[in-house]
Amino acid sequence: MRKKITASIIGTGSYLPAKVLTNKDLESMVDTSDEWITTRTGIKERHIAGDDEYTSDMAAKAAMQALQSAGKKPSSIDLIIVATITPDMLFPSTACFVQDKIGAKNAACFDIGAACSGYIYAIEIAKRLVETGSHNTILVIAAEKLSAITDWTDRNTCVLFGDGAGACVISGEESGKPRILCTYTGADSSAAELLMMPGGGTRFPASMQTVEKKLHFLKMAGREVFKNAVLSMYRAAERIMKKSDIKIDEIKCFLPHQANIRIIDAVAKKIGISKEKVYLNVQKFGNMSAATVAVGLDEVFKDWDLKPGDKILVDAFGAGFTFGSLVIEW
Ligand code: UT7
Repeated sequence: MRKKITASIIGTGSYLPAKVLTNKDLESMVDTSDEWITTRTGIKERHIAGDDEYTSDMAAKAAMQALQSAGKKPSSIDLIIVATITPDMLFPSTACFVQDKIGAKNAACFDIGAACSGYIYAIEIAKRLVETGSHNTILVIAAEKLSAITDWTDRNTCVLFGDGAGACVISGEESGKPRILCTYTGADSSAAELLMMPGGGTRFPASMQTVEKKLHFLKMAGREVFKNAVLSMYRAAERIMKKSDIKIDEIKCFLPHQANIRIIDAVAKKIGISKEKVYLNVQKFGNMSAATVAVGLDEVFKDWDLKPGDKILVDAFGAGFTFGSLVIEW
């Protein structure tokens, strides 16, 4: 009989484009202020990809770093999953472009669309495939070029988002490597219209009218999304605690999706986790959708003072609305 395995994260990586856009810069673009953005969101700056820098370029850079930290060659990867809402094109998948860029010639490739929860959804899929033995080594990437779907004249949204990519390599249990103990994913699509990019799909294919109506930009009803975010992230955290039979006091690091510092504070308070356990990067990167917790996980693995047995709770929420959580043991 095959030995039961628990999937491990054997390497991580991340990439942020060089250009930094500060709140001060935004003051000269729209009617806003550093003071408003900082107090309402916690964001101070965000990274913006170059015009000729695509989602797959950022994804490939994060992926190469993850492979290097895992000590794996691109040819050893048998599946690439990219979580993104800003693919290079509707098809082929961004995962296919990444395969070519990194030379992972033995990999199958697909993208998933679960918005900001995408990295958690992708890790859940990878965990199951590794644990059933159907795949050995999976590259999971979350990459976003949100600047390409941002209306830079809309102060309600343009101050919130940034570009970037994070990646990890998931494999069968390897001693001394962080294990993915439990995953949870869910969705409540009853208010999906509160956060969407309407144009470019089959409902509103690209036309002069869709461009005039700005349907190719991200649209969000901020205040309503805020309330949903707090409830959904609380729900995802609560469900995984029950599912894994782990108590919140056992969590050493809480890594939430970073859309707004006030959402993070509200969720942490509701689940009863103290401030010093909360990992924050919203001030330097803004909201990078699926890439947010991917970059965060790489930073937590590299910078957080973790000891063997310490548990990390990852929690995200996004358009759909989707939500999900992970418990990882160091
Ligand atoms: O990744 C998951 C999806 N995203 C989220 O989870 C984001 C969820 N929502 C939020 O983070 C917050 O709702 C926002 C940051 C988007 C907005 O904060 P808020 O406290 O909910 O503000 P609001 O939308 O209620 O707007 C308050 C005021 C409005 O002015 P009036 O109508 O009261 O005169 C806005 O026009 O602030 C105004 N405002 C701004 N003022 C200066 C909105 N954006 C700006 C801005 N600068 N950038």
